[in-house]
Formats: sequence, C-alpha cells, structure tokens
Amino acid sequence: MRQQAEFSEKLKENVGLSAFNTLRVQAVARFFLDVGSLDDLRAALSWAEARGHKILVLGGGSNLVFAGDFDGLVIRMKMASRCWERVDSTGATLVLGAGENWHQAVLYAARAGYRGVENLALIPGTAGAAPVQNIGAYGVELCDTLVSVTALDLESNELVCLDNAECCFAYRDSLFKRSPGRYIITEIRLRLSRDKPLQLGYRDLEEYLGESRSPDLNALAVAEAVMAVRRRKLPDPEIIPNAGSFFKNPVVSVGQFTELQSAHPDIVGYPQENSVKLAAAWLIDQCGWKGYRNARVGVHNRQALVLINHSDGRGQDVLELASDIRQSVQKRFGVTLDMEPGVVGG
Ligand code: EPU
Repeated sequence: MRQQAEFSEKLKENVGLSAFNTLRVQAVARFFLDVGSLDDLRAALSWAEARGHKILVLGGGSNLVFAGDFDGLVIRMKMASRCWERVDSTGATLVLGAGENWHQAVLYAARAGYRGVENLALIPGTAGAAPVQNIGAYGVELCDTLVSVTALDLESNELVCLDNAECCFAYRDSLFKRSPGRYIITEIRLRLSRDKPLQLGYRDLEEYLGESRSPDLNALAVAEAVMAVRRRKLPDPEIIPNAGSFFKNPVVSVGQFTELQSAHPDIVGYPQENSVKLAAAWLIDQCGWKGYRNARVGVHNRQALVLINHSDGRGQDVLELASDIRQSVQKRFGVTLDMEPGVVGG
C-alpha cells in the first residue's frame, strides 16, 4: 500500500521533455517517472504493462530526437552508484549505476589514477546509455574497457549479466541498439588499469599536447586535454542545444573509396580491415552545410557533423534538416549517411 502511494506520488503526468533532451526540443510525455532502484524500475514496468502503456527509458537524453509527444511512460534512469571491485596492483574494476553521469565517472576514475576512459571525457549522457551506442572518441571506445553490462531483460523479466563479447559491440553499435526495447541497462563494469599506455595518437589530441608533452602525463591530464580539444570544436549542449555527432562516419568498400579519392583527392578516410571509414563531417562540409542556419535549427560552424537547435526548433525541424543534408551528400558523393541518434515519439 505504502509502496503504491509512494509510486503515485512520484509519477507525473503531461511532462514537458525539453529539459530532458540535449537538443532541447519540445515534446510532452503522457507519464514521467524518475527511477532510482531496481524495485522502482520493476514497479514502473508492471504499472505500465497493466495499463497497456508503452515505455521509453531515458538516460541523459543526449542521443535522441523527439519527433513528437510520447504517449506512454517515460522512465528516467536515476540509479546512481559507484564502487570498486577487484582492486589489485595493476588495476581495478569500476562498477557504475546506470544513472551515473558519464563525464563525472570519467573524472572520478582519472582522479583515482586509473586509465582507460580518459579519452571519453565530456561525452554527455549517463553510464547506462554508454554501451548502447558504444560511445567513442579520440581513438578509444567504451568496449575497450567494458567487462560486462547488467540489464533487465524484458523478455524473461530477469536480471542478466552480459559480458563484453555478448554485447556484440561495433562502431557506434551494440546488442542493445540492435534489440530496441528488450534490455534496460542497470549497471556497467569497466576494467581500468594503473599502467596501460595512454592513447594519444588521435590527430587533434596529439596536436594539442604538442611536443612539450610531459613524460609523466597521467589519465587526468589526458582527460583535461580531451576536454579542451572538445570545447574548441564541439558546442556545449548546456549553451547550444545539440546531440553530438548527428551521423555515423560511413564505411565504404576499398573500391568505392579509390573511386571517390580520384574524384576528390582531399577526401578524409580511415582504413579499416577490408573497408574505409569516411569522415562524415568532411562530406557534409564539402556540400556547404557548415554554419548553415534557418530560423530554428542549423549546422555547427566548427563541426559540420553537429546539428544544433538555435531557438525553439522542433524535432521535425532537426529531422528535416538532417534529411536535406543526407540527400545532398548522397547526390554529390553517392554515400549514404546513417543517423546516430534514435528518433522517438510522434
Ligand atoms: N572535418 C571537416 N569539416 C568539419 C569537421 C571535420 O572537414 O566541419 C574533417 C576533419 O578535418 C577531420 C575529419 O573531418 O579530418 C574528422 O573530424 P573529427 O576529427 O572532428 O572527428 P569526426 O569523425 O567528425 C568523431 C566522432 C566524435 C568524436 C570525434 C573525436 C563519430 C560519428 N563522431 O567525429 O564523436 O568526438 O571523432 O574522436 O564517430 C559523437 O559521437 O557525438 C561525437 C562527438
């Protein structure tokens, strides 16, 4: 009874979602609930199921576009916890509740002297959302340190622990992205190291650190360098609403890359095993979109891969701009861009 009363008190109706997505687009959730524990999560799911409401699980709202209102229950994951496991002379395992702020967790690890996630500083969002798109930046991806993900499997209603291989990670992709609606991530485990080499090879980072690089550079100094590099190029979502890279860097065959290169000698491509990953930002920039703006939305003037909401843009405005950009890249280069954020609502 008491639990029921507490639940009803926390459940909100007709909640504006602009504060809960980093693009700050307007949308309304019919029901909204902050969830801080596994028990709360199970109660919310039973409540929604009993009434036939669909659910949407929200982390930091940094990788989605609300195309319209959400006629169901939005569950915001607030499960916060940080603890260390298996601490030994070489490293330690950091266990993070899904609701932990990702960037704060990176600083926490780096300040404790552990290496592995410092290149992922300043990525907006929560720890629980990080595995979904296998966040990555400056030559490092989450899957490089992730040991396991604990998640509620909505098919079996059981809590499962999936190891790194079971998460099927790839570039901005994972099992969780490929099976939408099946898993709700509650906790992640990262294996961090005291002494593994720092990853300083990404061009922007290398240039920033320069030749005066101190020989005893530590994880915290690298995190700070990454923050400085990001701040130079990427807009702070608190000031200019955005969802980070709006498109994935497209992967093309070696043959297609050779053809593109002969027509566009400056094209930026990173060789993969049997393919080449193109810089989507370069393709978009070449089509003249960088700094473009209409009344509501636009393209950032220092990173063509980032779409921004200038004032009162709706999700539909952002999606229309994205569609125009895709078409022009397709027409000019014959390359298809895939969106990075998910589209919900509407
Ligand atoms: N470039 C342009 N025009 C631009 C921006 C970049 O021509 O407006 C060129 C650059 O000169 C460079 C290339 O494009 O040669 C790549 O640019 P950058 O190094 O900035 O990286 P990116 O591929 O555009 C990726 C991630 C970012 C991540 C950076 C740094 C994707 C989709 N994006 O961007 O991730 O921070 O590398 O590692 O993989 C995110 O996912 O939200 C995100 C910001």
